[in-house]
This record gives sequence, C-alpha cells and structure tokens, in this order.
Amino acid sequence: MTVMVSANRVWVDGCFDFTHHGHAGALLQARRTVTDPPLGELYCGVHTDEAITLNKGPPVMHTRERYAHAASIRWCTRVVEDAPYVTEPAWLDRYGCKFVVHGDDITTDAQGYDCYQEVKDIGRFKMVKRTYGVSTTDIIHRILTGARCDKEANDCRPTLEELQFYSRGNDGFAKHCQVFDRDIHTLLVSSETFQFDPTSSLLIVGDFDLFHMGHIEQLQNARDGYPNSKIIVGIQDDQDNIMSLKERVLSVLSCCYVDGVILNPDMRASVVQCFGELLNIDSAELISSNPTSFSSYLTKQVIVDRIEKQRDLFITRNKNKGMNV
Ligand code: CTP
Repeated sequence: MTVMVSANRVWVDGCFDFTHHGHAGALLQARRTVTDPPLGELYCGVHTDEAITLNKGPPVMHTRERYAHAASIRWCTRVVEDAPYVTEPAWLDRYGCKFVVHGDDITTDAQGYDCYQEVKDIGRFKMVKRTYGVSTTDIIHRILTGARCDKEANDCRPTLEELQFYSRGNDGFAKHCQVFDRDIHTLLVSSETFQFDPTSSLLIVGDFDLFHMGHIEQLQNARDGYPNSKIIVGIQDDQDNIMSLKERVLSVLSCCYVDGVILNPDMRASVVQCFGELLNIDSAELISSNPTSFSSYLTKQVIVDRIEKQRDLFITRNKNKGMNV
C-alpha cells in the first residue's frame, strides 16, 4: 500500500535512553513544526539496543523500556520500533513523513558519517534547538560519581517559561497542564481546560527521580482506574535526588497521563482537600504483582545497579562522549 507523504506528519528518531526532558523538548518542538496542528502527527522512531550498542555504546534502559517511555510522551503520536540508525528518504516515505526533525547536534554512525546527510541533501531535514543542560551522558556521570545539582542553584528549578512550554497539550500548542507551587501558594501555569478541583482530581505524590516506566505505568494505572479524574502529580524535593527538581518536573509534565503538577506538596490533609484524593506512590508500592509490568521490576535502584554493575563500560562510554569520570 502506498502511503501519502505529508508535511503534516513528521519523523523524529533517536535512542531515547533515560528518556529525559531534552528528548521530550525535541518532540514538542517537532510537533510545533507541523503546519496544520489538528491534523498533524509525530512518528517517533526508536533504535534497538543492538543498533545503539553498535553505533554509540550500550544504552542503560532496555529496548522495551525505551519504546514504552517514548510512546508515553504527550507529543508522540506513534512509536515506530526498530528504527534504522541512519535515516534514509525511503524510510520517511514508508511512514508518510515529509520531514525528519532533529536537535542541532550532529549524530554520526559507527563509521563517523552524519546519519541525516541524505535527507539533508534533498531538503527533508528540519532542525530544532537542543535542550541545554540535560543529557543521558550527564545523568550516567552523576550516578557514577555521586555528583548532584546544587538545590539552591537557579538552573535546578524550572523557569516559568519552561513550565509553560512543557505544559502544552498534544498538538503542542493548547494549554494543557496546571502547575502550582505550594511553597509560594501560587498557580504558576493555568490550563485552558480545567482548574484544580479536589472533587475530580487524584493526587499522586513522590519524588519521581530518574523518571522511568515504573512511575509511568503507575500514572497510567491511575488514569485507567479513574477515567473521570484529573491526574495531579505532587513532586517532592526533600530527598537526595539524582535528577534536579527541574528535570523531574519537566519529565513528568511531558507524560501523556498527567494533567497537573504541584511543586513541593506537603502531606497535610489541607493539600488533599485543595487538590484531590491522595494516592501515594513510594518506591515500595512501585513493585507490582503483575510480572510482565514495568513496575514489577523497574525502580531507581535497579537502574543505578545496572550502571554500577558495568561501571567500566559506562566510564568508557562517557569518555567517548567527552566526559571524564
Ligand atoms: N535532544 C535534545 N536535547 C537534548 C538531548 C537530545 O533536543 N538535551 C534531541 C536530539 O537532538 C534528538 C532527539 O532528542 O533529536 C533524540 O536524541 P537521542 O538520539 O535519543 O539522544 P542524544 O542526542 O544522544 O542525547 P543524549 O546524550 O541525552 O542521549
């Protein structure tokens, strides 16, 4: 069957390892390049573990985890599994995408060739701004060295502009999520569709460090179990977290199951009264009884252990990316 190639369907591909707000930001910007948003679609091609290992070094998160995480980003219409590392025009044609969108960094294959040279040569490549300050390499570095963001530093907290940007709905434009800062009792971002309403909201509280498929599955379960409720995520910042508050908040906001975020909720009943019925997720509750689910095995500690167990390999990977441990 021939698929019509359309400028209203864009292709973004990548490894999506430790899927973070830099990846989500690329999808959101790509989504906004679609000229007719109500009809537009974003196809997200994700490489296999084997392709990534061959071209750049082993990923931390496994193929199935990376596919599912990319699919949960609000601006992704569909994940295409086993996407080739080098993006050729025929592959875009196959999925009806006129353009591929990529951050403004050059991605090369194992031989050092630009993975997008062919699509660039025929004008089917669009560039978006890479998100400054977040990368898989840096997250691995923090795990290997114990380095942490200074909580008081400005760049550890999301700016208002970032919160507004990542609160967009799935067309990349509509105002979708609400953000409330409990410390300053202020609604920072408001949505077109709802105001915090305790009678129809479910509040899920945690620190959401290394935001992963275990967390996302819990949010999905909440969404499925309470289809008429708004899913509000309370993000705490009192632990020694590997990811900064900014990284955790922007990752959570990018998740398609989330309608609102409260920064630094406290657990007093007043918060519940203001923001909805409380469903508390802590790492112990993440262990699900369904053995095929992500939350049956994936926790922050499992991810840290994966890196620790192959410490030398990840040190080499980071060195290849220009970062010394
Ligand atoms: N990307 C971005 N900002 C970042 C990291 C990635 O815009 N901070 C974009 C990339 O430019 C690409 C997409 O996200 O368009 C998928 O990137 P991917 O291949 O998964 O990762 P890397 O570019 O290698 O990023 P990282 O080092 O974080 O793995």
